[in-house]
Amino acid sequence: MIITPSILTADFCELGTTIDEAIAAGIDWIHLDVMDGNWVVNRTITFGPAVIRSIRERVGPDVFMDCHLMVTNAEENWNQYVDAGVNLVIAHIEAVDDMSTLIEKLHACGCQAGAVLNPATPADTILPFLPNLDLVLVMSVVPGKGGQSFMSEMEDKTRTFRAAIDAQIAAGGRPTKLMIDGGIKAHNIAQVADWGIEIAVVGSGLINDKGTIAENLTEIQHALQQ
Ligand code: DX5
Ligand code: ZN
Repeated sequence: MIITPSILTADFCELGTTIDEAIAAGIDWIHLDVMDGNWVVNRTITFGPAVIRSIRERVGPDVFMDCHLMVTNAEENWNQYVDAGVNLVIAHIEAVDDMSTLIEKLHACGCQAGAVLNPATPADTILPFLPNLDLVLVMSVVPGKGGQSFMSEMEDKTRTFRAAIDAQIAAGGRPTKLMIDGGIKAHNIAQVADWGIEIAVVGSGLINDKGTIAENLTEIQHALQQ
């Protein structure tokens, strides 16, 4: 299981130090939550390509970075995030008109392509694109902010993706990765591993005032080994 931090609960004045701390703790994948003040229900603004570019410069080329685009116009400005240095762009199926074309464009410039769906959106909206997707992200909270409660009712949908990806791999197809985002903590990490999740986004469970990132990560890894 790969654990990737969401930085939404970080002190943005201390962002560089927080990212250094995460990398020193063994993190090698950073999840970047981009909200444009329009698409998410609570109209939050987080950060955009300029901040992502600074993070890339800080961490160097070896840290994997994805951007989770919670924006209205991903099809128009995805290239800004590629230029800023992300390895993977994850676009919401609810926000994109032509997912096939977006995947093609991302692949054409050497970027990985992911699709994400809200808790209320059924799996069959994404399944037709699975053969060309590098990653599927299941939201286990309604997107908009960190620190929300995990929705365990995402189990069936997650297992549907797991089965479809396993069948695709068995048929010689793309090894699409399966990721979950929202409310993941030490107490439910083993549960989502059992569902077939390979990558878990952890925001408030890693960056909080209860412990250091290293301490919180150790607790999560320990829970996975139980
Ligand atoms: C929600 C974001 C998540 C979230 C994760 O809109 O996509 O990445 O902030 O934070 P926690 O782990 O605190 O739910
Ligand atoms: Zn996210």
